[in-house]
Amino acid sequence: MKYPVRNFLKCCINSFILKKPTPLLLSFEITQKCNAKCSFCGYWRLKNPSLGLPLEKIKNILDNGYDLGCVLLGVTGGEPLLRKDLPQVFEYAKKTGFSTLLLTNGYLLPKRIHEFRGFLDAINVSVDFPDYRHDKIRGISNLLDRTTKGIRLAREYGVSTNINCVMTAGHSLKDIRQLLFMAKELDSTVSFEPVFQTPNLGGSILGTMSKEDADVVKINDWNFIKHVAEMLLFYKKHGYGKIILNTEAFLNLIREKADFICYPFSLQLGIAHDGDVTSMCVTGLPKGYLGNALTQDLKEIWYSKRAQALREKYKRCRLAKPYGCYLFCVAEPSLPFTDSKVFYEYAKRAI
Ligand SMILES: C[S@@+](CC[C@H](N)C(=O)[O-])C[C@H]1O[C@@H](n2cnc3c(N)ncnc32)[C@H](O)[C@@H]1O
Ligand code: SF4
Ligand code: SF4
Repeated sequence: MKYPVRNFLKCCINSFILKKPTPLLLSFEITQKCNAKCSFCGYWRLKNPSLGLPLEKIKNILDNGYDLGCVLLGVTGGEPLLRKDLPQVFEYAKKTGFSTLLLTNGYLLPKRIHEFRGFLDAINVSVDFPDYRHDKIRGISNLLDRTTKGIRLAREYGVSTNINCVMTAGHSLKDIRQLLFMAKELDSTVSFEPVFQTPNLGGSILGTMSKEDADVVKINDWNFIKHVAEMLLFYKKHGYGKIILNTEAFLNLIREKADFICYPFSLQLGIAHDGDVTSMCVTGLPKGYLGNALTQDLKEIWYSKRAQALREKYKRCRLAKPYGCYLFCVAEPSLPFTDSKVFYEYAKRAI
């Protein structure tokens, strides 16, 4: 994924040299509706999932986010491809100057990818298992077939793709290796993250898991994650350096199940289905309401005392180690703040 160089450099200088929080990613929860039933996620269990904001309101927020300095728009959900007007969102974002990223479960990709030609830079597609277990854990049949077809089409259209795997109790080292080979064959990158469960199964932006599902997916033996990390570190050094998106620092972190200083609201800014501004902290802990993008200017929210106080609370959060809170989209972008090698690895990829 390439970013507009000037904005990217500005963000790096502000964040890492001047220590002034400057967001790179605007992460938009475009809808809460979903067509899958993933055991480890709670979106599909919501009683009244929101369709998301109307297009015109989304456009206003995009303008506001770009003014604040965001350079990458990440559209997530729920399942974003359920929104008919999604191509217009990306078209507008592209015109505004954003690099664009879609997060999807891939089911509707083969049917809809042609609608995004010219507006979409990258897609993050979820693929958890290399076989029928993927359809099973996500609760839709034909999902893996359709997803791989969608990835091939996306690559034909010149869109970058990343496969993201949520590692659960049912995974083996062989599964992880096969996903790695699958990514290579599809000309895609791949990332891995351990499943995350909130301490009380609730209060998460990922919704509430049922106790039965939580028991099935839970990683009881962290030694497995340790072995995965060691294997991926090996492959990274032996020909798969460009294919494995996780940085060496992230893999070392999960191998050791170590603490890290969390920055979920420093390079990233979330917009929820109703315009609420959120951090990327999945538990919503430490708690704190930040504001709403429909009624307030994003700069006002981003630079508010409340936001600054929350950032300081996040830095002191020590939930990663006891609860295995190592989401790829939170832990990875936190690492360059404390490890300059990660920063250089990102910069090399981005420019
Ligand atoms: C909430 S989904 C939204 C996008 C899309 N529906 C999808 O599944 O890719 C965003 C990402 O969160 C991941 N995810 C969901 N629940 C998770 C959990 N409990 N632990 C770790 N990752 C999770 C998904 O696999 C996906 O990669
Ligand atoms: S992980 Fe994505 S596809 Fe699965 S239920 Fe959650 S939002 Fe839907
Ligand atoms: S480690 Fe980060 S994402 Fe996890 S609960 Fe703490 S602040 Fe939130």
